[in-house]
Formats: sequence, C-alpha cells, structure tokens
Amino acid sequence: MALAIKYSHLVGCLKNKNMKIKNICCIGAGYVGGPTMAVIASKCPDINITIVDINKQRIDAWNGPLDKLPIYEPGLSEIVGQTRDKNLFFSTNIDAAIKNSEMIFISVNTPTKTYGEGKGFASDLTFIENCARQIAAVAKNNKIIVEKSTLPVRTAEKIKEVLESNSDVEFEVLSNPEFLAEGTAVSDLLHPDRVLIGGEETPSGQKALNTLAEIYQQWVPEDKVLKTNVWSSELSKLAANAMLAQRISSINSLSALCEKSGASIKEVSRAIGMDSRIGSKFLNASVGFGGSCFQKDILNLVYLCRFYGLDEVASYWLGVIEINDYQKDRFSSKILLELNNTVNQKKIALLGWAFKKDTNDTRESAAIYVADKLLDEGALISVFDPMVSEKQIHDDLIYLWKSKDLSDTKMKDKLSRIEVFSTHLQAVKDSFAVAVLTEWDEFKEYNWSEIQDSMYKPAKIFDGRNILMGNKSIINYYPIG
Ligand code: NAD
Ligand code: UDX
Repeated sequence: MALAIKYSHLVGCLKNKNMKIKNICCIGAGYVGGPTMAVIASKCPDINITIVDINKQRIDAWNGPLDKLPIYEPGLSEIVGQTRDKNLFFSTNIDAAIKNSEMIFISVNTPTKTYGEGKGFASDLTFIENCARQIAAVAKNNKIIVEKSTLPVRTAEKIKEVLESNSDVEFEVLSNPEFLAEGTAVSDLLHPDRVLIGGEETPSGQKALNTLAEIYQQWVPEDKVLKTNVWSSELSKLAANAMLAQRISSINSLSALCEKSGASIKEVSRAIGMDSRIGSKFLNASVGFGGSCFQKDILNLVYLCRFYGLDEVASYWLGVIEINDYQKDRFSSKILLELNNTVNQKKIALLGWAFKKDTNDTRESAAIYVADKLLDEGALISVFDPMVSEKQIHDDLIYLWKSKDLSDTKMKDKLSRIEVFSTHLQAVKDSFAVAVLTEWDEFKEYNWSEIQDSMYKPAKIFDGRNILMGNKSIINYYPIG
C-alpha cells in the first residue's frame, strides 16, 4: 500500500514537472519582441532565443552595428551586445525557428483596423492569424504558444482553433501581455511591477503556465508573477492601458480649466497626487498622449464593449480619446491664437517629434497632429528631434494624410513647407514661435535666451510638456494649464 502511494506520488510529480525549455522563438522583432527577448536571453543563458521577422531590413539592423539598432532604448544596445550570437539570434528564417523551439512568443503588431467591420476601432488580427497558420504548418512537435502582443479578450481561443484545425501536434496557448513602457523598456523588463500569465484551467494549461513562470522567476520574485485565467490576462492588459491613459486625459481636461481659472495644473496635480489613494504618477499634463498603445488599446476596448452591447461603458472609455484629441487641437489653436490668428508663411519650430523622451518611436505622437494643423494654416514648420530622422517625420505625415484621403497636390504642398534640422539652433532661427512637443532632457539645458534672441519678436515659447516652467530666462512663455 505504502509503495503504491509512493509510486502514484512519483508519477504525479513527473507529470506535473514543468517542461524544460531550451529554445525559444519570438515572432516579431519590434519594440516589444527585441527588448523582451534580449532581457530573457541575458537572464537565462541556458535558453537559446531566436527572434524572427518578415522585415529583412529590421533583422539586418538588429544584426548590424550596436549603435544603429532599429530601436533606441537606454541600456538596450549593451544587453544585445552581451547576448547576440551567444544565445540571442535574429533571423528571417521563421520556419526553422518555429520548428526548433518548444516555446513560441507571438509579438507582432496588432494595429487598429483601417478597413471593413470594426474599422477605426477593432484590432487588426491579420498578423496574429498569419503567425498561427505558419506555426501550425511547420510545427512537428508540441509547443507552448505565448501571446505577447496585446490582444482582444478571447483571442487565445481563436489562435488555438486555427492551430488545432491545421496541425496534429498539441498546443497550449498562454497570454503573457507586456507592460513595458518605451524609453524605460530595459529597466521595466529587469524590474517589472508584475508579470502576468494567463493559462487554461486544465492540467496541461497549468503546466505550460508554470513552465513560463519558471523562466521569469530566474530574475523576477515569485510573488510578482501573477497567474490568472487566459481571459483575465488578456483583458487586464487593455484595462491597464485604459486606466493609465484615463489619468492623463483627466489631468489634461483640468489643464484647460486651469488656463481659464488662474489655477496652475502643476500645483493641482501635485496636490491631488499626494493623496495616497490617487498617487502622483501619470498626472503630468501634456500636449496629449501618443504612442502605439494607448489609443489603439482603448479603441479596441470600446469596440469590445459595443460588441457585447455595453454602449455606456464604450462611451465612457471613448471620452478618454476625445479629450486627448481635444488637447492636441487646443494646443495648436493656442499657438494660432497667440500669433494673431495667422501663421501663414510664418516659421514655427517644433522641438521634439518622438511621442515621449528616450525613444525613437513616433507612432501617434502629438507632434504629428500639431504639425498637420499648423500646416493647414499655411505655416512653415521646422523640426528638430535628437533621435528621429527626416524620413520618419515625412512618413508619419504622409501616413496621416493618406488616411484623410488628401490629394497628391495637397500633400506635396504641405511637405514642401516642412524642414527637418540636425540642430535645435537651426530649427528655431527666424521662427515666430517654438513649441516643445517631447520632454527630451537636453531641451531643459538649452540656452533659452540665445534661442529667443534668434527668433522674430515677440518670441513665443509654447511648452507642451511643461519642462521649462521655472526657467526665469524665458519670456512670453505658454505652458499647458
Ligand atoms: P512593432 O510594429 O514594433 O513590431 C512588430 C513586428 O512584427 C514588425 O517588425 C513586423 O514586421 C513583425 N511581423 C508582423 N507580422 C509578422 C509575421 N507574420 N511574421 C514575422 N514577423 C511579423 O510592434 P510592437 O510595438 O513591438 O508591438 C507588438 C505588440 O506588443 C502589439 O500588440 C502591441 O500592442 C504590444 N505592446 C507594445 C508595447 C510598446 O510599447 N510598443 C508595449 C506593450 C505591448
Ligand atoms: C504604455 C504603458 O505605460 C505601458 O505599460 C504599456 O505596456 C504600453 O503603453 P508607452 O506608450 O510606451 O507605455 O509610454 P507611456 O510612458 O505610458 O507614455 C504614453 C504617452 O503618455 C506618452 O506620449 C507620454 O508622454 C504621455 N504621458 C505620460 C503624459 O502625457 N503624461 C503623463 O503623466 C504620463
């Protein structure tokens, strides 16, 4: 009897033992795939990680000089330098990487749909489905699939359906959303507030979940690894981004009231943030939030709510986006108003194009919308950003104009009135106004008297990030709120 108990216990232990992961494949070498895998590689030297992408240029750049990686993040090139070609590899051979790996992260883009059902709101899951089909087509043995991309609730179910109806091998699908913020990605990954893993509530689902948890626990304390069911994990990601963005829209809405009432948004923000129930983070008033996540994820949340008939909930979250659009528009209108309602043929300098400091990412940056509105008014726009190229700035505007169906002639005209400079002094020279649109640290160090001396008078400074508040040398200063 005793022997029988011991034997069954041993079998149970063996069954529950986590899978040993030796090879990981990550599909998608972007802002999430690159940094996330580089950090896992540095913390788990026994695991070989191959990041694959259909974009050959991006993979070549990942394999190229460390000071020219496709993504700029503080600390990233050092980690890539330590791990690349040891246990971290970048490749376009997607099939081979899938075949060789026991665990596959899907970290491809999930942009807002620009066509058909759900246009302008729902996530476009084409790239996700393509990955699932490719995995099913080439997988020869059982795999754990990890959703790293941000996805609508119940996407795991759809991925599993595609996988299982196209392959004979067994798949477990986990949700493991990423919470890193750009500009601080490496430190967020090294010291996460939490790691969230959702798995199916079956023995094999839990085994897969624990296998992934074990990888993170190489450097993340066990109590920070949160295990939930798949749907909670998927929804928590959308909810976290919505709540963060909601704080910014709340403070930005109050900044408009401050400008009318004589209150100062910096003081209001400090006063409310010191309430420990509210907290001080994400209460910086700004020209409006940007980035590839907040808007896209809230739109997706709005779509999901409407899909389930929760129209009031959908309207509530849509309000966060509406205030953000209002804030970007309000900022541009203020420049126009303060320049006597005409910027026609006037040079306006924009300092900063990235959606926040310490990143070269410009997706949904407020700068794109501010520039566009001023160009509509006939302005001559000059731009300086320490990390963003002229080509990127042009591409961002052209992408926006195409979405608005602008004619080629109109696009050409607007493009001819935008000039990108490699120093801030060139950008501001002979301008009528300077608008600070990204909170780059170096902007605070500039000689602002020299800048204002080189401008037409009255030389007006519009601070969309409130980083120059308190700089006594600046005259004609217009902060937010
Ligand atoms: P990205 O556009 O920078 O990278 C995605 C990459 O996937 C691209 O290089 C693209 O070429 C590649 N790709 C697309 N389809 C492919 C396929 N079938 N096979 C191989 N490669 C393919 O996107 P990102 O910013 O890294 O975001 C990825 C996901 O992570 C999104 O769902 C996003 O919402 C989520 N997310 C992003 C952030 C962020 O800060 N950027 C943070 C958390 C979560
Ligand atoms: C966000 C989430 O923070 C992160 O957890 C998620 O994984 C991806 O989306 P990210 O968009 O990279 O990260 O940067 P974040 O720091 O959140 O900033 C987003 C935008 O809000 C930026 O334009 C930023 O300048 C703006 N912002 C942020 C404000 O305007 N005020 C604030 O107080 C904070």
